[in-house]
Amino acid sequence: MKELLQALTPGERDWRIASRLDPKRLPAHIAIIMDGNGRWARQRNYPRIMGHKAGVDPVRTVVETCAQMGLEAVTLYAFSVENWKRPRHEIDGLWRLLRIYLRRELANLMRNDIQLAAIGRMESLPGFVQDELQSVMSRTAQNRGMRLNLAINYGGRTELVDAVNSILENARLEGNLDSLDINEEAITAHLYTAGLKDPDLLIRTSGEMRISNFLLWQIAYAELYVTDTLWPDFTRTELLEAIFEYQNRDRRFGGITRACASPADTASLLLEEEAIELPLA
Ligand code: IPE
Ligand code: IPE
Ligand code: MG
Repeated sequence: MKELLQALTPGERDWRIASRLDPKRLPAHIAIIMDGNGRWARQRNYPRIMGHKAGVDPVRTVVETCAQMGLEAVTLYAFSVENWKRPRHEIDGLWRLLRIYLRRELANLMRNDIQLAAIGRMESLPGFVQDELQSVMSRTAQNRGMRLNLAINYGGRTELVDAVNSILENARLEGNLDSLDINEEAITAHLYTAGLKDPDLLIRTSGEMRISNFLLWQIAYAELYVTDTLWPDFTRTELLEAIFEYQNRDRRFGGITRACASPADTASLLLEEEAIELPLA
């Protein structure tokens, strides 16, 4: 967090929001559904690919800001398994943009000590995209500051299917298929995000109130922040505001907070049978 405050000018708006954040309660992992590029382009009568191109700058801003705050991980939804339904020329344009992004950003990733990982079914991507991803992943493999996951050809259901198949494959290899007992830990350990904490905060731009097959398992208890802002218009200010709102949420994880516990609860009087008089239906 110190690094971000140092990078900002004291007194300016982002500095003021950043200084109100509690550095001890930052989200460890932020996931973002970067939506609205097409609508951004349509508003300007541009081809859709111009919206995707305009979406590159906010990616850089968000990634750099999160690294400066010292977050552990950021996962960005760049292309879903369902996005193959789009016109061929839009998809081809996205791959070309991805290559340009990767080439341009390598220096920034190194400077900010960021390790890049791709999550999704990479084998279906065009060869030149796989090569570029491989190259940036291996060059950033020793970076330890923050993990940046790019979800490309990613689907939450596909990921779960891949996890279960990989558990089965391992059991087959080890010869213990008959006694296999799958639990939550085993599934978590075979997801593309194995080893990372679950996202604490899930941001979606452009106002759609849906998950669109993103990180279905991992977002079980993520706090949701949906904004009408279209992705190309998403700024550092709004990222900081989203984190501020996150810090004001009451995360209960199915339990209760102190504020909701009455004195009688804490004295556990209600545990005595005669004290509980439930109205009969
Ligand atoms: C998100 O923007 C980027 C990708 C899915 C690749 P969209 O392209 O979905 O933009 P809208 O939803 O059409 O505005
Ligand atoms: C989700 O956005 C996928 C990405 C942001 C990459 P979509 O635009 O594909 O989602 P839907 O179709 O509106 O649900
Ligand atoms: Mg969309």
